[in-house]
Amino acid sequence: MAKKSLDDLGDLAGKKVLVRVDFNVPLDKKTGAVKNDRRIRAALPTIRKLLAGGASVIAMSHLGRPEKATADDRKHLTMDNVAAKFGELLGVTVKKASDEVVGPAVSAAVAAMKPGDVILLENLRFDPREQKNDPAFAAAIAALGDAYVNDAFGTCHNDNDASMVAVPASLKAAGKPRAVGYLVAKELEIIDALMAAPKRPMIAIMGGAKVSDKIAFIQVLLQKVDKLLIGGKMTYAFLKARGVNIGATRIADEEVIAARPLLAEVGKQIVLPTDWVVAATGDLLKTQVCEGDIPAGFEGVDIGPTTTAVYAEEIKTAGTVIWNGPVGWFEQAAFARGTASIAEAMASCGAVTVVGGGETAEAVEQFLFDDKMTHVSTGGGAFLAYVEGKPFQSLAQID
Ligand code: 3PG
Ligand code: MG
Repeated sequence: MAKKSLDDLGDLAGKKVLVRVDFNVPLDKKTGAVKNDRRIRAALPTIRKLLAGGASVIAMSHLGRPEKATADDRKHLTMDNVAAKFGELLGVTVKKASDEVVGPAVSAAVAAMKPGDVILLENLRFDPREQKNDPAFAAAIAALGDAYVNDAFGTCHNDNDASMVAVPASLKAAGKPRAVGYLVAKELEIIDALMAAPKRPMIAIMGGAKVSDKIAFIQVLLQKVDKLLIGGKMTYAFLKARGVNIGATRIADEEVIAARPLLAEVGKQIVLPTDWVVAATGDLLKTQVCEGDIPAGFEGVDIGPTTTAVYAEEIKTAGTVIWNGPVGWFEQAAFARGTASIAEAMASCGAVTVVGGGETAEAVEQFLFDDKMTHVSTGGGAFLAYVEGKPFQSLAQID
């Protein structure tokens, strides 16, 4: 669905523009430093365009889940490190408006802004009203800006976040312009094209831990793709559902239950691995490749070499490849081979290649193939939800 974009907003010189970004970035657990700045870099074209047009920018984002964090972890969830990283990447000093998300100090900081200035609001989730889509909180934010831009693709599926829904609704009620930024426009355009008219054959590679989380996504994919190749931890839910012994691999019963109705497609649209790398629980250096039952005391950690070769061949002859979820425990170098090989095969094939999901994007970056993909989405849950065709309340606020 095409939405009003930044370029449709006209002259914004001298205007203050609220820009909802998704700077919910991974942080170093000890220092709180930004570990991966991809989501910040992805929003820069929008910010730069606004500044070049003579606007000033009030950027805002959530960071982590402070409502669930310990007091210690919460300290790292202020926007200070993110503001510094954002400023460094943008080449402009970015000030954090205040330690409060909204209030007199923020209003004063905004009133003093000049064209070309950028400020970042404090972590939106520090105010509990953010996740309640609270109208008074939204009105206070909306009052700061002359226009609103949603460039937070990764959060577009959150229907109850004030900054995503009630804030643009409040600007709409006041007759102020709203648009999607370049990142959101690009994500929507690529995923729309992917689902509407994919180059065939179209294959999807699904990994990650939980079948139960992705069941709706899998069901939509099965209506679209020619083949769905399974990897990652969810493999063992399928294996267990088929009566294969999965050794010491820990799979919750609900995962087996979720996999069961999909078994009818195995061998047709759904392709399961035929071999896997297993490691001894408690001694991860002890590994072996196996087919069939996993020996007692061992757990599955990666797809095996035969499966890797079969999947790489499928990728080579595909017209479109969608990938969501690592196929092995890639954070451990010894178990990264399957995931690295999938990334490499996708990087060197002639297909349209789209990667979605935070962990998968991280893997592709780790192996330095991100620039070789047609598109690496900044969305995790949002990517899945958009592919599933879920309507987003956030986008409904933009004409
Ligand atoms: C994400 O990373 O999924 C988005 O930033 C949304 O964050 P949330 O999952 O905590 O709502
Ligand atoms: Mg999420």
